[in-house]
Amino acid sequence: NWALSDFIEVEVARIKEKVGNQKVILGLSGGVDSSVAAVLIHKAIGDQLTCIFVDTGLLRKDEGVKVMENYGKHFHMNIKLVDAREQFLSKLKGISDPEEKRKIIGREFVEVFNQEALAFEDANFLAQGTIYPDVIESQSVKGPSATIKSHHNVGGLPEEMKLQLLEPLRELFKDEVRKVGVKLGIPKELVYRHPFPGPGLGIRVLGEVDEEKVRILQEADAIFIEELYKNNLYDEVSQAFVVLLPVKSVGVMGDERTYEYTAVVRSANTIDFMTATWSRLPYEFLDKVSSRIINEVKGINRVAYDISSKPPATIEWE
Ligand code: XMP
Repeated sequence: NWALSDFIEVEVARIKEKVGNQKVILGLSGGVDSSVAAVLIHKAIGDQLTCIFVDTGLLRKDEGVKVMENYGKHFHMNIKLVDAREQFLSKLKGISDPEEKRKIIGREFVEVFNQEALAFEDANFLAQGTIYPDVIESQSVKGPSATIKSHHNVGGLPEEMKLQLLEPLRELFKDEVRKVGVKLGIPKELVYRHPFPGPGLGIRVLGEVDEEKVRILQEADAIFIEELYKNNLYDEVSQAFVVLLPVKSVGVMGDERTYEYTAVVRSANTIDFMTATWSRLPYEFLDKVSSRIINEVKGINRVAYDISSKPPATIEWE
């Protein structure tokens, strides 16, 4: 695609020109937009870019390791890994209301990020993976999902820093960002990942969040996603994940009675995420996922499949 190679070349030149020999910081989430922005900017200015990756403890299994492997080792980018796991968990202790959890996670994220950013005293630019739909959304009246659930992204810069914004993807749609990502050499599997909400597993462990529940959910979710890839179903669905219910039920394992948590497997098909249907995944596949989760994840003895459409249900459970 000539237009996109062109985009990369033009944008790299523009970033070089704009940044000169100054320093840039960027909040790397592991998501498509911030990753593509990071690799693009790194291509332009190399080590003048430092990425800040916050491990909230609410990420998918091994996410931090994978980000460091891929963007740190493979792309040779400077990444500051911030381990904020305990901080997030302690702030969430005792909180079970979904909106309150979102607010706490959002607020905490901004605080941790800003504090880290402040340490880079010589930074002149804050880079963000803002894409065209984000620009539009922030200009218009917020859509229904924004008012039903307060979405969060990195908001505002530390004021003391007087950083200039660097947003090289501002004019691109999501599919163009993905194509740019592939052209830049980011593995397809990363570029075509399903969306992952800002509050992460904090809203997929229903009710009160603790370390043990997060671990259980990470294990179950990783099995579901692994099976989707193995069976060539990952790209057939728009978003798939596991939710952990704070409900225990009775089961039997060998001669033992068990009393453990329930996991819900959720998979949605959608064009715009405003409406969605549940994925008609094959029974054999669901059977495999269910047995693997129950057999391999200590703490879960029952798996349910979510057959709700949006509306009236939402894709996430909180
Ligand atoms: P719902 O659950 O409202 O989700 O049907 C629609 C899409 O939005 C994602 N989502 C979020 N993304 N921050 C995000 O960045 C959030 O707070 C948030 N809440 C929901 C959800 O994963 C789905 O793709």
